[in-house]
Amino acid sequence: MPGVSDRTLNLGTENAFVVLEEVNKRLHKGEKIISFCVGQPDFDSPEPVKNAARKALDEGKTGYADCRGIRELREAVAEYEGKKRGITIDPEWVVVDAGAKPFITHSIMSSTDYGKGEEIMMPNPGYPIYKAQAIVHGTKPVAYNLLESKNFDFDLEDFKEKVSDKTKLIIINSPQNPTGGVLPKDSLKGIADIALEKDLWVFADEIYQNILFEGEFSSIASIDGMQEKTIISTGVSKTFAMTGWRIGYAINEKLSRHFRTWAINTTAGAAHPNQYAAVAALKESQKEADKMTASFHRRRDLIVKLLNEIPGFKCLSPKGTFYAYPNVTKACELTGIKDSEEFRKKLLDEAKVAVLSDIHFGTKIQGEGEHIRFSFATSDENIKNGTERIKEFMEKNSK
Ligand SMILES: Cc1ncc(COP(=O)(O)O)c(C=O)c1O
Repeated sequence: MPGVSDRTLNLGTENAFVVLEEVNKRLHKGEKIISFCVGQPDFDSPEPVKNAARKALDEGKTGYADCRGIRELREAVAEYEGKKRGITIDPEWVVVDAGAKPFITHSIMSSTDYGKGEEIMMPNPGYPIYKAQAIVHGTKPVAYNLLESKNFDFDLEDFKEKVSDKTKLIIINSPQNPTGGVLPKDSLKGIADIALEKDLWVFADEIYQNILFEGEFSSIASIDGMQEKTIISTGVSKTFAMTGWRIGYAINEKLSRHFRTWAINTTAGAAHPNQYAAVAALKESQKEADKMTASFHRRRDLIVKLLNEIPGFKCLSPKGTFYAYPNVTKACELTGIKDSEEFRKKLLDEAKVAVLSDIHFGTKIQGEGEHIRFSFATSDENIKNGTERIKEFMEKNSK
């Protein structure tokens, strides 16, 4: 039997999908699990989106498209995302692909070389694909810590110390998965100063840009001098409940032609009819998106209140996304459970509640304690019943 490469055997993954598989297996067996695992809106895609896809199919838009994305979509992106950030975007700087995710890889490939010891700064805790892709493409991930004591912002002095001559790319994600934190303007400015001084690329993962509950969205690309250094990576998945359509895009003047070449080498671009659906999302579906965000806002208030009523739980109010990231250090102590991962497993086995734990998003930070992640993109009923089950679990198991 031929072997499997070491880099594949060592490839990191996104545990949300791994835990989801287990949850689905258990559901199939008849277990009544309440799941808070998956990071996707629980709403249907807006009607204009579905109509546009039907029309595209009827009109025979089923062959290969321009590998950068159809012109109509690149124009709609330039207008929508430019307005959102107060900047001018040329549609030629936009590349569309199968979700925002491929641009993590395209950006790492386009800004670093394999095996030269080049470094990529990335948030910890953070979206696990950043680290997996940095390693598999022969670079060194360097984590900067997001601290609960700083409302899930980072310490700028610590950040500066970690930037080295080998740093090529800085990854930021705001609003953030998994903490729900938002980087304040002065932190974005701090990173911009470093990127400008050292001439570094910044990958701004802004996929949650519209799921924001407090204040206005700020992009690092809006800071003077930063647009050309910033790879804006976003898409329609989360804002418009379109995760399964697989449409995302990145914006950067210099790198767009290289992203196009990567797209030609890999996916040959995003699904053709779905790109028309994305145009309808950006141009005709904002009201529906705003309604979904209002609903996440209400659910945020509900879940934070209920989590804070569970003995041993302490939960900050996320400023954006649909993730809550409570500190469960005390809950582990009360139940004699070793850590967040064992706590997660016990919740699944005994309380029949599925969540993710902090180790799925990076390495433990000394002094920060134990955390688990809830996606509250689920019904009020699930939020109430799920938190009630955990409360009962705590009451039954506290020593
Ligand atoms: C931080 C972050 N970036 C990127 C993505 C991927 O988005 P898409 O589904 O558009 O590929 C996700 C999805 O969970 C995410 O949480």
